[in-house]
Amino acid sequence: MSKTVTHDIIIDTDPGQDDAIALLMALASPELNILGITAVAGNVPLELTQKNVRKICELAKKPETKVFAGADAPMKRQLVTAEHVHGATGLNGVELPDPEMPLQSQHAVDFIVEMLLSQPAGSVTLCTLGPLTNIALALEKAPQIAPRVKELVMMGGGLFEGGNITPSAEFNIYVDADAAKIVFDSGIPIVVMPLDVTHKALTTAKRLEGFGKLEAPIGPASIGWLEYFERFDEEKYGTDGGPLHDPNVIAYLLKPELYSGRHINVDIELNSELTFGMTVADYWHVTDKPKNAVWMTKVDADGFFDLVLERVARL
Ligand code: BDR
Ligand code: CA
Repeated sequence: MSKTVTHDIIIDTDPGQDDAIALLMALASPELNILGITAVAGNVPLELTQKNVRKICELAKKPETKVFAGADAPMKRQLVTAEHVHGATGLNGVELPDPEMPLQSQHAVDFIVEMLLSQPAGSVTLCTLGPLTNIALALEKAPQIAPRVKELVMMGGGLFEGGNITPSAEFNIYVDADAAKIVFDSGIPIVVMPLDVTHKALTTAKRLEGFGKLEAPIGPASIGWLEYFERFDEEKYGTDGGPLHDPNVIAYLLKPELYSGRHINVDIELNSELTFGMTVADYWHVTDKPKNAVWMTKVDADGFFDLVLERVARL
């Protein structure tokens, strides 16, 4: 690792406008050495998410980034998508040209396994911005990778805020709850950015002003995405701005002091029809179940948005 690099990371993602802002942030940050970006089916089908990742890398002028396509469906269930939030392409709000940079021929799951086995143990951080299918498939294929992961920082779940795709389940966990269960049971040190955090990080009109002033093509692209993405949640929650979920994962790597939470047990509900995909988070330590995740609940929202803008502005 060079002096400026503080984290070697793999980003697993399903863009999504908020994924896109997270990727721009990461691509702009010299502290983060991006070993590869793996796409998963989620907000939209895989065919679009892998293409969207490459569009975003080209927008950031990083066509050398290695992009891999992974699972096109959850492990055991039918894919649920969120075009009602993100639009038909997943990146509605901005038209970007079809990417010219290649998609790597290796499957994302094989890439994740190979990287974790070839890099020094405890050196690679996994950043997940979508359903956990690729990570769980990698763990099934090569369970010996689990103790080699430095940390897994995810956007997913909700406790105090409930769910956003059902009353009790958050989208990323709900789409592949079987995968989420495997990840939470894996022994990997996990940091969770749940809705309890992201619902405090709202894209208010004031916070968006700075993005609107950035030069083309980054300015119009980021403001186009942020304004498209917030419309659904502004209507749903009646707030000025919507939650900017996924960039919290990248912000945590760059400035962990923006966040606070608790080390707790988190389990995934798989059996109930009513609460399927719920993150059952033992925030009050009412069980003796082993602590497997740091569950964040607080964010310095202004500090977070200053960081997002400062990073995106570097591109
Ligand atoms: C999560 O679901 C997706 O719609 C967003 O990209 C984010 O990762 C929020 O529940
Ligand atoms: Ca996402």
